[in-house]
Amino acid sequence: MNILVTGGAGYIGSHTTVALIESGYNVIIADNLSNSSISTKKNLETITNQELTFYNIDVADNNALENVFSNHHIEGVIHFAGYKSVSESVEKPLYYYNNNLISTLTLLNVCEKFSVNKFVFSSSATVYGDNKPPLTEKMLLSPTKNPYGETKVMCERMLSDIAKSKEHFSVAILRYFNPVGAHESGLIGEAPNGIPNNLMPFVSQVAKGKHKKLNIFGDDYQTLDGTGVRDYIHVVDLAIGHVAALDNLTNGVHYYNLGTGRGTSVLELVKAFERANDVEVPYDLMDRRPGDIAECYADVSKAEKELGWTAKRDIIEMCRDAWRFEKKHHI
Ligand code: WQD
Repeated sequence: MNILVTGGAGYIGSHTTVALIESGYNVIIADNLSNSSISTKKNLETITNQELTFYNIDVADNNALENVFSNHHIEGVIHFAGYKSVSESVEKPLYYYNNNLISTLTLLNVCEKFSVNKFVFSSSATVYGDNKPPLTEKMLLSPTKNPYGETKVMCERMLSDIAKSKEHFSVAILRYFNPVGAHESGLIGEAPNGIPNNLMPFVSQVAKGKHKKLNIFGDDYQTLDGTGVRDYIHVVDLAIGHVAALDNLTNGVHYYNLGTGRGTSVLELVKAFERANDVEVPYDLMDRRPGDIAECYADVSKAEKELGWTAKRDIIEMCRDAWRFEKKHHI
């Protein structure tokens, strides 16, 4: 089955491409390389030992996208392409609404034109706003306090309305918790442009000496050690979750949390990283980061029951794989 992976050169898209190919799917990638590199294509070909069909296009470009659907019999889509920085979305809301909404709408229009009715959407736990964990798919969404999160809520609503209006349209909306780690080869991983916003890439860069210290944002939360607690999930487990969602896709709209169901604090992750890799990660305790919540972790029972999927890799493996990628990634 031919699957179009938009944003397939990105962090989660590239790992999902590997999982899809390993499960026997044919993958076509569309990516404008705005937050990824063409070297990922070569690395994916090395990992999968096959040539990849790659279109360097903007998903919001209707003609370019129609050309892809004309050249290949696309039977399903996994849609990752989109901007994903919470802080940047607060600074540039129009940039985020334009890109994330118009690319999704363009893709949905082209899917309708070519009668493609299998759709998997990359969403985020951010949509839960300040709901209290363990977070379940039944919860009413609450304002996410940032444009990035709002674009995810709006795309979810569009997909739900379309699924309700079209008998054969099937969509899985996957809400990611905190993806970390990298493929065991160390060839693909999380390589953010500039200074990382996210914890794991910053920890990796401190261990490598790119930064002197990690700033830990807040040690006065109501958590076991005062630092923020998140549900970190290995990106390979997350990728496999996408294949499970595609394999089990049925008519209508289906929501799934993709996490481990376990919370890990910042200090626990730092200690795990040091222990797993025999390195030091010096840190300073700072004030809280605006917009952060104390705790976020998933109830993952629905994906287990309906998709037969659970995350298998623990925090040590996440830290080990992240470190291997950081050491190989010579930027
Ligand atoms: C994790 C914890 C920080 C950096 C964000 C997005 C979410 C998703 C994943 C897209 C928090 C602390 C962090 C640092 C720190 N992205 N931290 N020092 O904020 O949970 O989620 O990324 O889908 O939508 O909101 O991830 O890795 O930034 O932070 O102390 O230098 O680490 O306070 O407790 P977050 P994060």
